[in-house]
Parts: sequence; structure tokens; C-alpha cells
Amino acid sequence: MTKPIRKAVFPVAGLGTRFLPATKAVPKELLPVVDRPLIQYAVDEAREAGIEQMIFVTGRGKGAIEDYFDIAFECETLQRERGKDLSALDGTRLDPGNAVFLRQQEPLGLGHAIWVARDIIGDEPFAILLPDEFMKGAPGQGCMKQMVDAYDKVGGNLVCALEIPMEQTPSYGVIDPGARDGALTEVKGLVEKPRLGTAPSNLILPGRYILQPEVMKILETQEKGAGGEIQLTDAMASLIGRQPFHGVTFDGRRFDCGSKAGYIEANLALALERPDLGDHIRAFATDELAR
Ligand code: UTP
Repeated sequence: MTKPIRKAVFPVAGLGTRFLPATKAVPKELLPVVDRPLIQYAVDEAREAGIEQMIFVTGRGKGAIEDYFDIAFECETLQRERGKDLSALDGTRLDPGNAVFLRQQEPLGLGHAIWVARDIIGDEPFAILLPDEFMKGAPGQGCMKQMVDAYDKVGGNLVCALEIPMEQTPSYGVIDPGARDGALTEVKGLVEKPRLGTAPSNLILPGRYILQPEVMKILETQEKGAGGEIQLTDAMASLIGRQPFHGVTFDGRRFDCGSKAGYIEANLALALERPDLGDHIRAFATDELAR
């Protein structure tokens, strides 16, 4: 029997330098895709997968994220007095006692950010969602839901696995794949940011994980890796062979909202499918392309 996945860690302590100056005073995770912040989509995805406790690893300048998930007292009171609809705020408040905010004082790497949550995770398996990776599945079939369904079958450790063009692999954690069975691929090895031409495959880690708590012990003594950062990929690689490890191919679309192009693509794709915006944006884009 596998233990259920009840907890999710959202590492949000990065500096977001690729979006400067927008991220000088506003956390990257609060940048909106149409009208919902990136972090909201990630929390919705975790909730849909049955996850109860949301753990945010934040840093300096990220206080607005904590406020975002609170009650907006003045705004809500005023809107209510004016008889305005408040349904846009549904899902923005977190359950009391089920939201945890931790500080990573220095951005020493993703692995270090996860390790900051070790005491809250305790001895349970847990999920990790990088909110700047926007994963869009069919309704009720988000990326984390698909991963939890796979976890219920095979247990152990799971990473989302995504195929990308080979020349982009130096920017990512890359899987050395074994046997494939439907959406599941055995993970034989992992390498962070391989040099061009050395990646073991074009299957990358786009920022969704289900990990066993033993990874925290490994992170405790994990040496710095690629880019001089403490890398989660390196710690996960140490679990391979000791515990089951699989990649899950996501049935859906992925937008890398940590990059400007991916962020603009996500806004366009979502706006085009919104009933209140789609026709307008389609007409505008068609005109614009014809100019
Ligand atoms: P990124 O590599 O996207 O870094 O981190 P970043 O700082 O957010 O953005 P750029 O590259 O400077 O533009 C991937 C994820 O890991 C978190 C980030 O917040 C992001 O969600 N992270 C990274 C931390 O929480 N702490 C770290 O030390 C590093």
C-alpha cells in the first residue's frame, strides 16, 4: 500500500532574473496568465490531485504571495457592499492550517529550497510543483492528477517527463530512460544541464515530481552541482536503484512561463479559448499578423 500524497512543496524563492525588470518588485509567480497568477494555477493543479497541504518556500521580496492567498479584506468588503460578484476570488484562500510559508534565505538552488521543507514533510511522500511551469491538462486531468494516478499504481518516485528538441537539453534536468510502458518510462539515470551533445535522451524534467521522503536525507549533504547550485536532480539520481523511479508522460500542454516566449504563448493560448476573450483576440491576432 502506498502512502497518499497529501503535501505539495512550491519552491518560489528564485530571483526570476529572466523577467527583470517586471520581477524587481513583483514575484514571478504572481505574473498573470490572462487573469490568474501562475501560482494559482499550480495550487489548483495540486488541489485537483487531492493534495491538502500547500507548502511555499519563499524568499526576500516574495511576501505578496502570502497576502495573495489570504482574505483581501478591503476589496472583498467593498465589492460585497456594492453587490458585486466575488466568484473570481474562489480558490484564492487556502484552508486555515493547511498553508505553510517557509523562508529560503539565499537562493542556493532548487534542491536546497526543497530541503528547507524537510520538517514539514516528515516521513511522507510529497509532491513538488514549479509554478513557472504551467501544465495545462483536460478538466479534472491536470498534470499532478495524472502523476498521482500513476503513483497509485507503481509507488516510489515519479517525475513528469517531457520530450523536447535535443538542442534545448542543456537547460534542463534530463532522463536516462529505460523500458517504456504506456505513459510510464523507467528512469535509469538523471543528469542536470548536460553539455550540448551529451544528453542521454531528449526527455526532460519540466517541474513536477512525487518523491519519497528519503530524498531529504540525501539533500542534507548534497554537494553543489550544475551552475554552482544544490540540484534536486543530483539528489534524485542517488535514489535510483534504491527505490522505484519512473517518468510519467503528461497528456496535455506545457508552457515554460519562466521564459518570455513561453509566458506569452500561455497567455495567447488561454485567451483564445476563453469565451469572453477568444473571438476578440483571434480577430486582433489575425489583423496583427497581416500587417
Ligand atoms: P529557475 O531556474 O526558474 O530560477 O528556478 P528563477 O530564479 O525562478 O528564474 P530565473 O532563471 O532567474 O529567471 C526554478 C524554480 O525553483 C525555484 C524558483 O523559484 C523556481 O520556481 N528556486 C530556484 C528556489 O525556490 N530556490 C532556489 O534557490 C532556486
